[in-house]
Amino acid sequence: MLSKSQARLFFLTATAGFSGVFLFLTVDTIRQVPERSNEDAMTEQVVRGKEIWEKNNCMGCHTILGEGAYYAPELTRAYVRRGEDWLKIFLADPQAMYPGQRKMVQYDFSEQEIDDVIAFLKWIGEIDTNGFPREPDLALPVQTAAASTSSPGPAAPAIFSTVCVGCHALGGQGGVVGPALDGVGMRYSEAELRAWLADPQSIKPGTTMPNLTLSDADLDGLTAFLMAQK
Ligand code: HEC
Ligand code: HEC
Repeated sequence: MLSKSQARLFFLTATAGFSGVFLFLTVDTIRQVPERSNEDAMTEQVVRGKEIWEKNNCMGCHTILGEGAYYAPELTRAYVRRGEDWLKIFLADPQAMYPGQRKMVQYDFSEQEIDDVIAFLKWIGEIDTNGFPREPDLALPVQTAAASTSSPGPAAPAIFSTVCVGCHALGGQGGVVGPALDGVGMRYSEAELRAWLADPQSIKPGTTMPNLTLSDADLDGLTAFLMAQK
């Protein structure tokens, strides 16, 4: 049994000790914030993106760093899992990437605003969150198409691996929104493929394949790559 004075001493030392540990850990956490949040990388563009994020109440549907509403995907790692090309197309026309599904709001952002939002998402994505969220919940197969196909030919343009694989599979890897592209070079001529990629609606009105407003260089690269899928 502790005597009264021993009990008091025990209480006081333990309280002081644990308060000390608590204070130390608090200060230590706060000290790490600038480094873990890449404070230096917080440019004006990032701040503008955050303002757009707040003004439009994106958190009314999304969570970021775990905070917000659970209607739509968690976006802390949106930049990491989707990449810039995909996000650009998606923010300009969300439905293009999710034909026929529940819809993200079409905001009619200007190109500048889209870049700002992407800069914000990129910065958020680079925060060291101790591994949160655990797994990218909507991960794309990051494997490049060239590696997943056995047929020789030109390497897949970057945009193929960042955008097209979100909807199309090749060699068993990729999305299932559109048809798998294995053997597509046998089904179409070069001219047909180019015309399709340039403007799917003009070839097949009502199709859910989006017009991705591809540059001439991307059209050339993609057509050559698809023609080699035989
Ligand atoms: C009314 C609810 C709602 C609001 C508000 C909203 N979103 Fe979304 N968002 C969605 C839904 C739902 C999806 C899932 C895709 C779909 O079904 O269209 C989505 C998907 C996304 C994605 C793609 C995530 C992925 O990896 O697939 C991004 C990026 C995104 N939203 C950004 C934003 C930004 C930025 C704002 C604010 C400017 C915003 N959202 C506001 C509903 C919303
Ligand atoms: C948002 C989803 C989506 C994205 C992104 C997308 N596609 Fe498609 N694609 C489709 C759908 C859906 C079809 C089927 C269209 C139809 O038959 O109406 C299709 C059809 C095609 C076809 C015809 C395939 C066949 O066997 O008939 C080709 C080729 C194609 N896409 C190439 C591409 C390329 C290359 C990219 C990237 C630049 C791309 N797609 C991006 C959804 C998508």
